[in-house]
Amino acid sequence: MDLSSENLIPQVQHSDVGHGRGVYVSTYGCQMNVNDSERMYSLLEMANFTPVASPEQASLIIINSCSVREKPVHKVFSEVGKYRKLKQKNPELKIGVGGCVGQQEKENLMKDQPMIDFVFGTDAIDQLPTMVAQAFAGEHRLVKAQFQHRAPYHVETLVRNPGVSTFVNITKGCDNFCTFCVVPYTRGREKSRPLKHVLQDINELIGRGVKEVTLLGQNVNSYTSDCGADFADLMEKVAQETKIERIRFTTSHPKDFNQKLVDVMYANQPKICEYIHLPFQSGNSRVLETMNRGYSREEYLQKIEMIKKAIPNVVLSTDIIVGFPGETEEEFKDTLSLVQEVGFETIFAFKYSPRPFTKAARFEGQIDEVTKSDRLTRLFEAHDLMARELVKRYEGQTLEILIEAFDEKRGNLSGRSSQNKLVYMPGDASLIGKTMPVKITKAFPAVLRGEILPVQ
Ligand code: SAH
Ligand code: SF4
Ligand code: F3S
Repeated sequence: MDLSSENLIPQVQHSDVGHGRGVYVSTYGCQMNVNDSERMYSLLEMANFTPVASPEQASLIIINSCSVREKPVHKVFSEVGKYRKLKQKNPELKIGVGGCVGQQEKENLMKDQPMIDFVFGTDAIDQLPTMVAQAFAGEHRLVKAQFQHRAPYHVETLVRNPGVSTFVNITKGCDNFCTFCVVPYTRGREKSRPLKHVLQDINELIGRGVKEVTLLGQNVNSYTSDCGADFADLMEKVAQETKIERIRFTTSHPKDFNQKLVDVMYANQPKICEYIHLPFQSGNSRVLETMNRGYSREEYLQKIEMIKKAIPNVVLSTDIIVGFPGETEEEFKDTLSLVQEVGFETIFAFKYSPRPFTKAARFEGQIDEVTKSDRLTRLFEAHDLMARELVKRYEGQTLEILIEAFDEKRGNLSGRSSQNKLVYMPGDASLIGKTMPVKITKAFPAVLRGEILPVQ
């Protein structure tokens, strides 16, 4: 398939807007934003900007912001403030704000901070070279933050150095409206890429040396292609019709995790990795209901049982919110007990933070900061004790590790197991991209150490 005929890459972009000037993108938030920043760099490189490693070297600075928790607007302003001196030294310097705060605040950002030259939303990334050209032509206070609700979701992966493992967007936006979450307002309605585009994209990445892809979306397992394929169908096709060595995905939603997907994961091992990030948010069914998560504690546990039955070696991680409005001490204890019951090796836990537009921000029973902090500390302490014990089982095991990088400072290789365990081991850079048997010598909760065994 000829991608250009499907208009996957915006038609800018080979104009000389940049004249070789430096561009620096400062990235906050989730993997989606990391991918978006790569897209921004790639598009701006096509328009003859040069990516640089620090803001001091740049004539164009872009802040790719996140607003999922705590004081995001404040963070944007404090970063822009740091560039005051640079702007005085170099009056040509342009500053743009994109990402979820750009989408959420639009022109409000300019009202309060005149140093910002332009603001663009999450659906306006492909218009960036045009906006930047306008900014350098002297236009000030430009804003492009309309959602492109009708436009199909066509985004060939644009990444400068994909390395061994890379992320591939398959869905964008979210229609779930969990009552705490700003994402449906900052990323818009959920859309899926056509299945054939995803396959083509992965094949091109394989041609650039990629061995592992992580399929990415706010809610990957509600993926629906225009041809009717669902997420399980997509996973099966990627496993069977491409030569990719490993497939991961994030983030999946418990309510959309079904037996069909588990069956596809089982049938396509070891290509599909034995690792699932499955956020539960709260271990209490009443709290889950007020969060509008669409499952109860019991239903979540049933899904875990279904997964563990088919894939006994599966490793699970999760996201948790503590101090959601109205959460009692007893309800919080249900969260503690769910962590133990499932045996998560990794947790990402956060204090509830009221977000603009969301229902929960207006709920009664907002919890004070001291209680939230206390619950978060207790959760991390309990999890840490458990994780230390859980990972001991890796010591002495031999795991298949896809080698991803060589750290010159430490003289170490790093890579990951199917279960997403990060492993450090001695070795040389020629092994990058190879999958090697590694005997684990020491296990810590966040990393394992090991030694590469000779291939049989
Ligand atoms: N789509 C994913 C989550 C995306 S946001 C899912 O449904 O699981 C990433 C995580 O940030 C969430 O899982 C949640 O734990 C946390 N989060 C989102 N909004 C939050 C808020 N208002 N306060 C605290 N944590 C929040
Ligand atoms: Fe936010 Fe819920 Fe959508 Fe995840 S599923 S992005 S938590 S609204
Ligand atoms: Fe943040 Fe937007 Fe991602 S709010 S977590 S950057 S989707």
